[in-house]
Amino acid sequence: MAGRSMSAPQSNKAIENKVNHLLSQMTLEEKIGQMTQVDFTVIGVPKEQNAEDQIDPVKLENAVLKHHVGSILNTPFTPDTKAQSIEIWRKMMRTVQDEAAKTRLKIPVIYGIDAIHGATYTQNSVLFPQAINMAATFNSELAFKEGEITAREVRASGLQWNFSTVMDIGRQPLWPRLWETFGEDVHLATVMGTSYIKGHQGDDFSAADKLPTCLKHYVGYSYPLNGKDRTPAWIGERMLREYFLPTFEAGVKAGSPAVMVNSAEVDGIPGHANYHYLTTILRGELGFKGITVSDWADIERLYTRDKIAASPKEAVKIAVMAGIDMSMVPFDFSFYDLLLELVKSGEVPVSRINEAVTRILTLKYRAGLFEPKPLLAVEGNFATAEAIETNRQAARESIVLAKNDHNILPLKKDANILVTGPTANLLSVMNGGWTITWQGFAENLYPQEKLTVVEAIQKKSTGKVSYIGGNSFDAPIDIQKVVDEAKKHDIILLSLGEHTYAETIGNIESLNLDQSQIDLANAAIATGKPVVLLTLGGRPRIITSIEERVDGVVLGFLPGMEGGDAIADILYGDYNPNGKLPITYPRNTNGISPYDYKPIESFEQNSYNPLYPFGHGLSYTTFATSGLKVEKDKIKMGGNIVVSVNVKNTGALKGKETVLVYINDVAASVTRPNKQLKAFKKVELAPGQTENLSFTLTPHDLSFIGVDLKRIVEPGDFKVMVGNETVGFTVIK
Ligand code: BGC
Repeated sequence: MAGRSMSAPQSNKAIENKVNHLLSQMTLEEKIGQMTQVDFTVIGVPKEQNAEDQIDPVKLENAVLKHHVGSILNTPFTPDTKAQSIEIWRKMMRTVQDEAAKTRLKIPVIYGIDAIHGATYTQNSVLFPQAINMAATFNSELAFKEGEITAREVRASGLQWNFSTVMDIGRQPLWPRLWETFGEDVHLATVMGTSYIKGHQGDDFSAADKLPTCLKHYVGYSYPLNGKDRTPAWIGERMLREYFLPTFEAGVKAGSPAVMVNSAEVDGIPGHANYHYLTTILRGELGFKGITVSDWADIERLYTRDKIAASPKEAVKIAVMAGIDMSMVPFDFSFYDLLLELVKSGEVPVSRINEAVTRILTLKYRAGLFEPKPLLAVEGNFATAEAIETNRQAARESIVLAKNDHNILPLKKDANILVTGPTANLLSVMNGGWTITWQGFAENLYPQEKLTVVEAIQKKSTGKVSYIGGNSFDAPIDIQKVVDEAKKHDIILLSLGEHTYAETIGNIESLNLDQSQIDLANAAIATGKPVVLLTLGGRPRIITSIEERVDGVVLGFLPGMEGGDAIADILYGDYNPNGKLPITYPRNTNGISPYDYKPIESFEQNSYNPLYPFGHGLSYTTFATSGLKVEKDKIKMGGNIVVSVNVKNTGALKGKETVLVYINDVAASVTRPNKQLKAFKKVELAPGQTENLSFTLTPHDLSFIGVDLKRIVEPGDFKVMVGNETVGFTVIK
């Protein structure tokens, strides 16, 4: 097992003393270097040279010795980044730290990586379901384990910092980064995100198997009005505080030592220029003590894109004075040069530089970089059988059975199945972005032994399995052949969805599926054979017209490297599905109200009419909740509320059920959602078994952001809702 640090973490005071001592010896150039983060290409041998040793010693010296660079990120070579072997990573990291050891003050470099669903850029790492799927598990223990395993594998690779977890709330389904979020609900994302952080960091992230996280992208990034990545969000401060800030607040409380900044803008102010968010709220209100790192090239973009700075130099000044401590520049030393000039001319005070560098050095001490522990042994710590099994379990629990007419599922093992569709025979479509490469679509680099959906079906089936489709997402599918072949099969599995993408490259104009997929679906349905629809991809693409005419629907989203096996487990009933939607699945491309819509959204001509609501997900057994109770029907302001309910497995199979507890504030001075999730529990029950669950709701669960932008609880009536039952209680002064 992983070698846990036996020594106690250094005390805050001890670290503070060391940081102050170090800072007092540093030149201005050395300080500004610490605030500079560059991409691997800045130290790399050009890709075309295909060098065995990918780090260029002259470039490395220029970055680390001459420019005192404090941080480096990414894998070789942007934009065609790709995973390296664990041995190569270890060697590269040794080279980088050896260079840092040659500097006057021997300050180590902190090397960061996007390991958002496992160690993305280390070959053969355990790559989990993406966050949208992890949220669908409603199982915080799995998020904790994902954090543990990811930290261990990244650390075993010699890397020192993970740009994860995404604490953005996914309430805009068009946004191409929806799948990086834990869904649309604040409570669910808080629980899953903080569990991940705790698993990842433990009590002491200097331990040999732990690693610091980074909360991103602070704040409001995830809600672009037009759905495109890196475009404006129109979020007023009340809604920002109610929906987008709480997950970051929770991440800070969970101990994450870093925050990455929103790459776009909110309410007319770019994230990287927002003093109010970055300093007044983050530092002043949330009490964040860690470092704030810019996102990719975003300081410069204050000039090149946002035009709020008249020059690149002014952009640096605005960002640093707004509260950014480290610039992900990423390709040159412009930030370093310009900030140096700004301090020398007195435009940026040295006190601000000292503040930023103090935070950066504190992180480096806390991460144990000054006294590095021996790297974990690869054997027993990397891609272990146990970690792979955890991954498969996470994938199984993340898959949502959305429709199952006449119990079309589970399939009989000897059924003859025709599998078709663009997502049936690819691993990339189950993994999404940041899988081996940035965009994730380099199918040829995926591990050979992992199974696509069709391969996993073939492995389990004792009947005939045929596949019609190509080896890439865009390969044309011979529809006539599908129609002809269908005659020889009992059932059609239609595997639709999205190709793989990350960030802005995934922008779309509409949630509608492309016409070729619709045509394929129509032809498959017209054969009259029973059809089960499987969807894969990061967003809820519109499937309504297909859904109405098929017997079964399985929503797979991005279940990760074990996705094929997990889907086959569910299709054949080797695993009883229990995933629940962490987002509202829209019926139409513009029908994007989340589940916690306001009363006005279902008033008069308005209606809330999704294809599947948040929390939807079927099982091969059935469950019923009953006997919902609140312990007291009058609660004094400031008191807790104890809610209890029975949950029973009313079917014939063992299964897991998540019980969701919602509340509604009946009348308030700011409009309240029709309901809001405040607690949930997942239990496993045998047929006929009942469990009584108890939940404690706190005053915070009853609170909202009032007219004056402060969090308040107002006395009056509240409703608690579980399943079909509602009970009330009153908060009295
Ligand atoms: C993304 C971040 C990521 C960074 C470094 C940016 O483009 O927005 O999420 O951490 O790149 O790769």
